[in-house]
Amino acid sequence: MSDVLYINGRFTTTAERVIGVEDRGFQFGDAVYEVFKFVGKRPIFLADHYRRMEGGLRAIEIRSPWDEAAFAAIMRGLLARTAFDDGIVYIQVSRGEATRAHFYPDDLQPTVVAYSRAFTFPDAAKKERGIRLVTSADLRWKHCDVKSVNLLANVLAKKKAQRAGADEVLLIGDGIVREGASSSFFVVRDDVVITHPLDEHILPGVVRDRVVHLARAAGIRVEERPLCENEVFDADEAFITSTTMGVMPVAAIDDRAMRRGGLTPLLQRLLDEAEATELMHSSSTV
Ligand code: PDD
Repeated sequence: MSDVLYINGRFTTTAERVIGVEDRGFQFGDAVYEVFKFVGKRPIFLADHYRRMEGGLRAIEIRSPWDEAAFAAIMRGLLARTAFDDGIVYIQVSRGEATRAHFYPDDLQPTVVAYSRAFTFPDAAKKERGIRLVTSADLRWKHCDVKSVNLLANVLAKKKAQRAGADEVLLIGDGIVREGASSSFFVVRDDVVITHPLDEHILPGVVRDRVVHLARAAGIRVEERPLCENEVFDADEAFITSTTMGVMPVAAIDDRAMRRGGLTPLLQRLLDEAEATELMHSSSTV
């Protein structure tokens, strides 16, 4: 079934082939993307996704195709045309289309696409079980804070996880645990939540940011600092966060079971708070 698609100012469906073969997003990965969740047709944390995307566009010098109001109006239009209530929206802004050359013209018109997709978010049973991770070298570029479509290192690492029967791969760079291939990563040790600081080694996850604030507001200590690989195996519990997974407990890493796996009381608390915040921040306006 085709989904509703927004491209460069008009709505169509994903049945239409819309991207030119010389689009720089296609040929050079010269583009940024976002994924946001919607529930009951209401976008979740839309303003956070907009801000992150603007930051990425600025960082790689692509002219922003919208201001926040225009962006919100397009996303509302997309959701209004969408047949289902819950799912995700994928947005991509590329530098545009030009005769293939590494040098890019300065006056390119960005290519903008966004489409909605039905998505089954993990249920309570999956959260209760938790997921399995495997570790792998972080071979990504040095600006992981930009959500660029250059995901080759991520997808190859993720495939490795899948072949090992795991759900996600934990990326390790210079002996430091960075994040998942498509998620932020946290451990809990002696009731302290620890996660990588915001810098060029990780994506500033929208859910990560919410969880850090929620935990602090609930009186839980949060340390944003580099984590050595061996600290992960010494941790009491671990979890990942992302738009699609929400707050997801980790049951095992490299076949070593966490001391406390599944939905521990601390994680249940964070998860409840995160879901309540989602509902509060789901609105038809940004
Ligand atoms: N991935 N780190 C990486 C490398 C990611 O790709 C993602 C999200 C996250 C979590 O970010 P957020 O909480 O804003 O979803 C962290 C999306 C979902 C994806 O690529 O599909």
